[in-house]
Amino acid sequence: MYTKVTAMQIRIDHDSTAEQPFTADKKLFIKSYGCQMNVYDAQRMAELLAPHGYGLTDKPDGADMVILNTCHIREKAEEKVFSDLGRLREQVAEGALLAVGGCVGQAEGDAIIKRARYVDIVFGPQSYHRLPEMIARARRDSGGVVDTDLPELEKFDSLPAQTPTGAAAFVSIQEGCDKFCSFCVVPYTRGAEVSRPLNHVLDEVKRLADQGVMEVTLLGQNVNAYHGLDSAGQSASLARLMREIAKIDAIKRIRFTTSHPLEMTQDLIDVLGSEPKAMPYLHLPIQAGSDRILAAMNRRHTAQEYINIIDKVRAARPDIAISGDFIIGFPGETEQDYQDTLALVHAVGYAQSYSFAYSRRPGTPGAAMDEQVPENIKKERLAGLQALLEEQQTAYNNRFVGQVLEILVESKGGKDGQIRGRSPHNIAVNLEGNERLIGSLIRVNIVEARPRSLFGTVQLVAAS
Ligand code: SAH
Ligand code: SF4
Ligand code: F3S
Repeated sequence: MYTKVTAMQIRIDHDSTAEQPFTADKKLFIKSYGCQMNVYDAQRMAELLAPHGYGLTDKPDGADMVILNTCHIREKAEEKVFSDLGRLREQVAEGALLAVGGCVGQAEGDAIIKRARYVDIVFGPQSYHRLPEMIARARRDSGGVVDTDLPELEKFDSLPAQTPTGAAAFVSIQEGCDKFCSFCVVPYTRGAEVSRPLNHVLDEVKRLADQGVMEVTLLGQNVNAYHGLDSAGQSASLARLMREIAKIDAIKRIRFTTSHPLEMTQDLIDVLGSEPKAMPYLHLPIQAGSDRILAAMNRRHTAQEYINIIDKVRAARPDIAISGDFIIGFPGETEQDYQDTLALVHAVGYAQSYSFAYSRRPGTPGAAMDEQVPENIKKERLAGLQALLEEQQTAYNNRFVGQVLEILVESKGGKDGQIRGRSPHNIAVNLEGNERLIGSLIRVNIVEARPRSLFGTVQLVAAS
């Protein structure tokens, strides 16, 4: 999975006080892999480099600088970076800068330059605000520039204000992770968990709202562990942050991802139940349904405790869509453990999901565990789990046929004459409609359900 950050996605607006618009005399190509935090980071990199003369291009050929904003979560994601690098080396023009950022940059550091000597810059997810200096150094010296410092929150203070690319925006509110699940690289690639101060986040959201944003998705690896300081120096929870954001008139929808079961406080459940702007969607990964495996994964909760949380959330917000992440084939997983995962999926009923075969990541405790599960068994079990999840997802989507849903139109659709948006429950909705509707909340008649999306017709444009 990767996202090419396109020139269309990044619209650099110039405020009226600026003397001159930026002249983009250099072309920048960014390819982003992995999670939404990387998508957010890639957009910020483009904004950061715009005043330095870099304008986004959709292809690497002819680019003056190429950034691969990478993901380290599974072996495949990492391999993809090195195969892309080999290809890019042939594609980019003589003298163009090639940079590797993101989580592979952080994890591998100068080993990347040792393996691929033509790479000019390596940086991590917490140091990209220093890209202008890195570029200057790389142009001056040969031999490669590596900056994988993990300074807490420094990037947020150094980056220019975010310019929205449409009616929905990501806002990173927390970075890093202290949970150390035994399969996961994130605590090593993103550093320790830190939360941005409450007012910094609110200011960013207000600025976005002033520029037409109606939906914000608050991002963090453990977003519900958010504990940013308020102006009195007190720690503020995600629930409080959401309530404050809800007071901003122009913001109509609030989402957050990714949540951890251990931080699902009653306070947050209450916000989901009582705040109309909190969207009825919760991504709450569990990874496995067997308590033995959950303990070995260091998730620190049982399957029943997870189900109890889901019950509480559903009591507060009966229509909530539950989404989850699963890992199949963690070391020691038996057929019975796998059956426990299927039983949990039956018990919960998922509206959306992401499931993966366990990938052995160097440096994590899981990689050194005995009883690694053979690849063919992982593959077989994953196929069984995915068939069940797909069945649940299709059944979930089907219930909306014949209903009228409020859709925030975000972009053009896949086909000519189509536009695309998302439902409150975070399902992609395609519809025939005029591009002028992009950026508005409209009522849509749902006529067809597909496994991963809905299809509808415009009912009436909401007065705004
Ligand atoms: N912080 C989130 C998840 C972040 S990583 C949480 O705690 O739930 C996103 C997903 O990638 C994880 O939920 C997990 O399902 C998957 N993942 C992480 N490490 C993995 C590994 N070594 N092999 C396979 N999948 C992995
Ligand atoms: Fe990884 Fe676990 Fe942290 Fe999620 S909570 S980022 S899975 S270590
Ligand atoms: Fe990948 Fe880093 Fe996100 S490892 S999933 S890009 S935090």
